[in-house]
Amino acid sequence: MNDLAELAPANVRAISPYIPGKPISETARELGLAEASILKMASNENPLGPSPKALAAIRTALDDLAYYPDGSGYELKKALHRHFGVAPESVVLGNGSNDVIELVARSFLTPADSVVYSRHAFLVYPLVVQAIGAKHIEVPARAYGSDLEAMARAVRADTKAVFLANPNNPTGTFNEWDAVEAFVKRLPANVLVVIDEAYGEYLPADKRSPSFGWIAKHPNVVVTRTLSKAYGLAGLRIGFAVADPGVAGIMNRVRQPFNVNHLALVAAVAALGDEAFIAKSREVNAAGLRQLAEGFARLGVEFIPSLGNFVSMRVGDAARVYAGLLAKGVIVRPIGAYGMPGHLRVTVGLPGQNARFLETLAAVIGKA
Ligand SMILES: Cc1ncc(COP(=O)(O)O)c(C=O)c1O
Repeated sequence: MNDLAELAPANVRAISPYIPGKPISETARELGLAEASILKMASNENPLGPSPKALAAIRTALDDLAYYPDGSGYELKKALHRHFGVAPESVVLGNGSNDVIELVARSFLTPADSVVYSRHAFLVYPLVVQAIGAKHIEVPARAYGSDLEAMARAVRADTKAVFLANPNNPTGTFNEWDAVEAFVKRLPANVLVVIDEAYGEYLPADKRSPSFGWIAKHPNVVVTRTLSKAYGLAGLRIGFAVADPGVAGIMNRVRQPFNVNHLALVAAVAALGDEAFIAKSREVNAAGLRQLAEGFARLGVEFIPSLGNFVSMRVGDAARVYAGLLAKGVIVRPIGAYGMPGHLRVTVGLPGQNARFLETLAAVIGKA
């Protein structure tokens, strides 16, 4: 055998690599630009940075790095209980929420199972399903959003799990929680419903998720959350799942014993306690969404109204517009892999960053 990649099973060899937002350092190297001149609006990171309380906690924890982290995450689970009322035995901590999403797949799926998700859904769902060799059921979207009616109808006897991001990335679309609960009630009790709330903190007060409260009555619900977005800790990698203790217990057996590092554990406890920072992040984001919407309207650029910290807009020749923005030091995200080859996704920034992005876009599309 010449090519050792052939050793991997066919389903693994068929995985399309996940292409993340282009890093600032790589862009600087390739374009010969100074890193400081580059604006990255490509990975839905928090433009305010991390909570200062999280940074202070990390500094004091540096001396402990020779020790393994607390594999049980005792203090963080206590903090999650304090903030969200979730029982520690219902929590699974992850190296980012991608880790807990993958844990659902590794813990419960076999190649005999199928998984339902929407077209334009977060790409990590098909990726983890493909890695197991389980079957994909991708359901057509409705106005770019998850069509819950069609998704419920798509569930088959071999369906083990449904993935739903709310709001979804990269579309920013949102399903009202009443409709989501009605959807959960319609599904067989032995189908796991993974509700991915990576952008939950950005929702306005009247749309905040009630899903932690559903788990006692709908034990097949698994909620995933992250501290990568509104909490500003994407680089540390920390997320969690909340599930029925039976489900969480299985996932905790499958996860690596030290999957969350010490600094992430310590920072997460501090960040959860910084409610003012979350309120500020939400406020900056809401203002940024308005600024971008006004800018797109001015430029005649069609966009999908978003409840996340990003917006996807239709720009026609997206590859050309992406390259044009990049050449001027503005990194956004092509989303052809999400079935949206004519769109680009931009992450909401600070007012000056949004303004620079809009001006650069205007120049690139010839509307300056
Ligand atoms: C919908 C959705 N879920 C989950 C994640 C994973 O985030 P992380 O692994 O950083 O927690 C992302 C990140 O972009 C996302 O957009």
